[in-house]
Amino acid sequence: MKDLVLQLEQNHFLTDEEFKLLLEDESDEVLSFLNERAAYVSKKTYGNKVYIRGLIEFTNYCRNDCYYCGIRRSNCNAERYRLTDEQILDCCETGYKLGFRTFVLQGGEDGFFSDEKIVGIIKKIKEIYPDCAVTLSIGERTHDSYKAFFAAGADRYLLRHETADSEHYRQLHPGNLSLENRMQCLYDLKKIGYQVGCGFMVGSPYQTTESIIKDLKFVKELKPHMVGIGPFIPHSSTPFKDYKQGGLKLTLRLLSIIRLMLPNVLLPATTALGTIDSEGREKGILAGANVVMPNLSPKNVRKKYLLYDNKICTGDEAAECILCMKRRMQSMGYEVVVSRGDYKEINGE
Ligand code: 5AD
Ligand code: FES
Repeated sequence: MKDLVLQLEQNHFLTDEEFKLLLEDESDEVLSFLNERAAYVSKKTYGNKVYIRGLIEFTNYCRNDCYYCGIRRSNCNAERYRLTDEQILDCCETGYKLGFRTFVLQGGEDGFFSDEKIVGIIKKIKEIYPDCAVTLSIGERTHDSYKAFFAAGADRYLLRHETADSEHYRQLHPGNLSLENRMQCLYDLKKIGYQVGCGFMVGSPYQTTESIIKDLKFVKELKPHMVGIGPFIPHSSTPFKDYKQGGLKLTLRLLSIIRLMLPNVLLPATTALGTIDSEGREKGILAGANVVMPNLSPKNVRKKYLLYDNKICTGDEAAECILCMKRRMQSMGYEVVVSRGDYKEINGE
């Protein structure tokens, strides 16, 4: 099995059969070896640096009804909120003072935020903080909308594909959403010139080894700049409330596999990973991740942006959260850096 790990490190890919063996292997020894190789590869490109992104969850209204998600339209228990432009800019100001140079505007698919409104917000942030990167994570929009946001100054776009298996996609989403459209959005975003992030949940209901292999192949084909993966965690007010959460080990295994497939990818150790294990994010970094995304949302709305149960960091001020994160990273010999943390090209890739 260790041969397969080395082969993946060298060739950045495996056959379906080989991926299956590696994904279904259960030995801790192989997992440690995989994590070590991935952390080594990550260090070769990014050193012992961990990049931070300030996450601003600016609306939890959503027109969609994804079966796994706590802010789905049908969840009447969710207390809805939207931040004003001023509140968003306040978050950026706090974040900037704390050293953030990337702001991630994340929200549900909220019709209130028209293209004009989003363009206005991007322009304001870019005007005040020209040295910062703006990342959008606001779901599926038209090609023209994506172009308008890019022209306004947005640098990056996160849109997890959720699963690259169309049958599985239908099991996670209502019929009006399609994998085809999702993938088209990602290709459009890339063509427009964004640094693009795709990703998927680990251990989501009905996920199989075969569907994960499709995810890996899609990731390889899209060649994103970022890949966001984290365990599925049930939310008590969703149709998936009784499904079990994704596993820590499989998530760590996948982080490492993705690092070895795309050596210079930006790979976050996600909040969901920190939620299923108190040292999940640290373990993620040691498995090859190199990004963390502390929350910059105002404290009074944090408990409302709940995609899943038991989310961590919902009671902390931004300043506490970043200090905590710095301490956590330092404890493992890593350093949180103040910079935009752009993707590093290697040999034109
Ligand atoms: N568990 C884990 N991750 C989730 N997401 C949404 N709901 C859940 C959940 N219950 C993830 C999706 C989405 C991202 C913003 O959060 O992958 O793209
Ligand atoms: Fe948020 Fe520790 S990282 S409180």
